[in-house]
Amino acid sequence: SLEEQLYRPYYHFTPKVGWMNDPNGMFYYNGYYHLFYQHYPKDNIWGPMHWGHAISTDLVQWKHLPIAMYPDDLGYIFSGSAVVDYDNTSGFGKDGKIPIVAMYTYHDPKKGDAGQLDAQTQAIAYSLDEGNSWTKYEGNPVIDNPGIRDFRDPKVIWDQERGQWVMILAADFEMMIYTSKNLKDWTLADRFGKDVGSHEGVWECPDFFPMQVEGSDDVKWVMLGSISGGAPNGGNGTQYFIGDFDGQKFTMDKNFEEALAKKHDFWVDFGKDNYAGVTWSNIPPQDGRKIFIGWIVDGHYANKVPTTTWRSTQSLPRTVKLISDNGIPRITFQPVKEITNYIGKKSKKDHVSIGVDQETVLSDGDFDFSKAQIQYSIASLKDKGYTFKLSNNKGEELLFGYDGTKNQFFVDRRKSGKVDFHKEFADKVSIGPRLSDKDLHDADILLDKTSIEIFFDNGETSMTEIFFPSAPYSKLSVVSENGDLVLDHLEISQLKFN
Ligand code: FRU
Repeated sequence: SLEEQLYRPYYHFTPKVGWMNDPNGMFYYNGYYHLFYQHYPKDNIWGPMHWGHAISTDLVQWKHLPIAMYPDDLGYIFSGSAVVDYDNTSGFGKDGKIPIVAMYTYHDPKKGDAGQLDAQTQAIAYSLDEGNSWTKYEGNPVIDNPGIRDFRDPKVIWDQERGQWVMILAADFEMMIYTSKNLKDWTLADRFGKDVGSHEGVWECPDFFPMQVEGSDDVKWVMLGSISGGAPNGGNGTQYFIGDFDGQKFTMDKNFEEALAKKHDFWVDFGKDNYAGVTWSNIPPQDGRKIFIGWIVDGHYANKVPTTTWRSTQSLPRTVKLISDNGIPRITFQPVKEITNYIGKKSKKDHVSIGVDQETVLSDGDFDFSKAQIQYSIASLKDKGYTFKLSNNKGEELLFGYDGTKNQFFVDRRKSGKVDFHKEFADKVSIGPRLSDKDLHDADILLDKTSIEIFFDNGETSMTEIFFPSAPYSKLSVVSENGDLVLDHLEISQLKFN
């Protein structure tokens, strides 16, 4: 159908049919990256939640598997995580089979509809066949609800240093950290965040993991938290906090805390469309990456986007890094390197002079920008800016670039194609601050039929947005503002999929 041709992404994960929201339960085992997701198979809007399931050997091409978990008497299967229990701490392993244990939230719709506060509880399920089939634990729920309306989305990690499981839960506008020895019995160890960060929405889908600071031996703990309102450009977003964890208590890093108090620019992504993102469990140590994936739409218009047979897309998986930016810890994101295995033809240009206020065409008809990567660098901008334009022969255009007078990046999808399905979809230009103070500007940009993911400055500022053009963009041009500039390097790569 036309919708499949125009809107079904080439390499971003979408459900075959029905509704999808958050990525859930991602783990790596025996050659496969597993991805589960919030799924309602019977309609293209949110409904009784299941866990859909897909696998990949390279994080780029996905294979659909049967639904992993269905709602039951305890409720809908809300978001959660999964871990490989190598030491069989849970005792679910049998005959030498290693159990995979998933921890998720039950949302009991009867209680929820009746306005009861205790509708959400935490539960576990296990698989003895590498994630194909799941058995829900007969002792569920493993954590009862203490009377908190929003009490959900457990993310579990093995705390190597202390030999314990650590789990983080979003609960009533803060985080709750639990520990366990066996994944069944959980003890509340700490609460964090009541007075920190943004509280303009409900806290959801947390993550919590240690990372080494690039170029040092320091290890810090990174806490991600999605929030259903108050993101930099409005709507849903994901903020983060960095600090230390002693096995019980999380304490913010001093420099981080000071920087956050001055200016809250600690967001995973500054585009409108990246939510509920969390990281993979059990990536082998010899690989060593932290790999993140997010749901790329905003909750405000997710049930209105112009696809009918399926709804929503996951981001391209991204590698997370922890850097020290003049002593302030920050995380950066880069597209996983596996995407480069799909590069076909390439064009490279060096030292392209761009006259001020003139549109310079960089490519016209040579590339299909519905599956492409664009990379560029510009050595010296000062207060100059630039605007890249992707366009098609229908007069539709997607703009992105940098405003040197304000030191900020932007994405403008106001004329990108179909935009009238929701008033918040294209009412404004999205803005992202430049966080790097390097002289060199660079960007790595991934395009699929309906999405752009921009990693400015090696991923210090990321921006993800979706769009719905009536024909693929086939032309790329650039305009320089406030003076001539030189595009030091430009690379356009065609991505190829069979
Ligand atoms: C986030 C969220 C989660 C919840 C799930 C329900 O988008 O609200 O907090 O578990 O979706 O589908």
